[in-house]
Amino acid sequence: MSELAWWQRGVIYQIYPRSFQDSNGDGIGDLPGIRTRLEYLAALGVDAVWISPIYPSPMADFGYDVADYCNVDPMFGTLDEFKQLMGRAHQLGLNVLLDFVPNHSSDRHPWFEESRSSRDNPRRDWYLWRDPASDGGPPNNWLSRMGGSAWEWDERTGQYYYHAFLREQPDLNWRNPQVRRAMDDVLRFWLDLGVDGFRVDVLWLLIKDALFRDNPPNPAYRPGEPEHHRLLQRYTEDQPEVHDIVRSMRATLREYGERVLIGEIYLPVAQLVKYYGAGGDGADMPFNFQLLNARWNAREIASMIQAYDSALPEHAWPNWVLGNHDNPRVASRVGIAQARVAAVLLLTLRGTPTLYYGDEIGMTDGAIALDEIQDPAELRQPGIGQGRDPERTPMQWDGSLPHAGFTRGRPWLPVDTTTSVRDQDNDVSSVLSLYKSLLVLRRSHAALVQGTIENIVAHGDVLTYERRYRNQRLFIALNMGDEGVDVQTQSGAVLLSTMTSRRGQAVVQGAIHLAAEEAVIVARGNE
Ligand code: GLC
Repeated sequence: MSELAWWQRGVIYQIYPRSFQDSNGDGIGDLPGIRTRLEYLAALGVDAVWISPIYPSPMADFGYDVADYCNVDPMFGTLDEFKQLMGRAHQLGLNVLLDFVPNHSSDRHPWFEESRSSRDNPRRDWYLWRDPASDGGPPNNWLSRMGGSAWEWDERTGQYYYHAFLREQPDLNWRNPQVRRAMDDVLRFWLDLGVDGFRVDVLWLLIKDALFRDNPPNPAYRPGEPEHHRLLQRYTEDQPEVHDIVRSMRATLREYGERVLIGEIYLPVAQLVKYYGAGGDGADMPFNFQLLNARWNAREIASMIQAYDSALPEHAWPNWVLGNHDNPRVASRVGIAQARVAAVLLLTLRGTPTLYYGDEIGMTDGAIALDEIQDPAELRQPGIGQGRDPERTPMQWDGSLPHAGFTRGRPWLPVDTTTSVRDQDNDVSSVLSLYKSLLVLRRSHAALVQGTIENIVAHGDVLTYERRYRNQRLFIALNMGDEGVDVQTQSGAVLLSTMTSRRGQAVVQGAIHLAAEEAVIVARGNE
């Protein structure tokens, strides 16, 4: 498999650092904590960790409001502790990806403090400042993704500044070449330290309309949806000039060899794949989030896989995401039995999978009482289901310890102790054992990593497809329904099933009876 880059062969694991492992008893995860869990990740069988922001931050949006791009927040540790973590990860064969947050800084970043200090400050144009409209109100109708106007009035200098998210997260002006150079220096700072790549936050939002035109109303808006859905984001997202920025980020990474550029992009597939760049010179992997809100049935998923596969430009490498820190967990979306089926899907589709911490033990969304809410998105627009605390609850390491071993202090969000890594570790029927088996199979079967994907078909509730590489042919069947069903296959060995009861009857002849909610991988041909 040597002609592929490591990030094409590998599996990425997302860590939300507040919630992975606390080492100092303050109830919030940190870098030394993560370091002590690297052996676990190596044994799980993933290849890289992406760590959500660890930079100095007032934590208005839990680190997505960066006050210094080239350091570590004391809450998480020190730059030296980051280097130690990365050194140990590399020894264990794990690559380390950071979260790069270029769209906006914190309002406490020195750049913004200078920018807002006066209209003629040299950094004034590093952010998006506009005069009021003729009625004295905001310059246009743009809305914040966290609710309310996206424009914040600044009394001292008599102008508004734009913030796509919280008012504590002013958007940088990416049309300004100085901003681009400063951000390029940030990438180089971390690349020089040996970081293996970046997940770029809200990549599709970096550039806004040069004329600041009003966004048109969204005719499909329904009351109860987040407020910014009232408008189509015509002038605030996916502007043509963004691709030039992606290209230059990618060019910088290429100077450092095999480093990966991943983009967070929530767009329909036709627009998403443009982020690969016209000549394959854009992002290595624009995140493919389709599974996050897919309707969970075989027909839907089959056509999604086909549509994605045929939309991909030549040479573009696919990828799939099942969960992240902004969306309900898969086990809560589809139920725990189907979360096992989803694991087989994620790890047998063509392309790089990204796992979200805790999904490998089937963690579900936490129940958050009203007085425990932490997420600013929920606090600003209560009750519309935008709260992200449920999917951010701490990792469950050991159910026999207080707070499941996450912290010896008071955890920042409640910890569910009903299941844990320790409970599942020696249980062959656990979700964790399933993930480990799948990750072992990926390493040992080139068809799963670099094979084609073919014959994607839905038969009722069953989705089947094949992965082929040279003479290796794997047949995957996923029962997304709650009844047993017969499925045609060729004769061969069952390499894996989500049902432990199938162990011991490993060969099938021409057909297989799938139990309700069972998924299998069958080897065919010269396996
Ligand atoms: C991204 C992050 C999200 C954050 C937002 C603003 O969508 O994933 O957590 O709130 O950007 O930075």
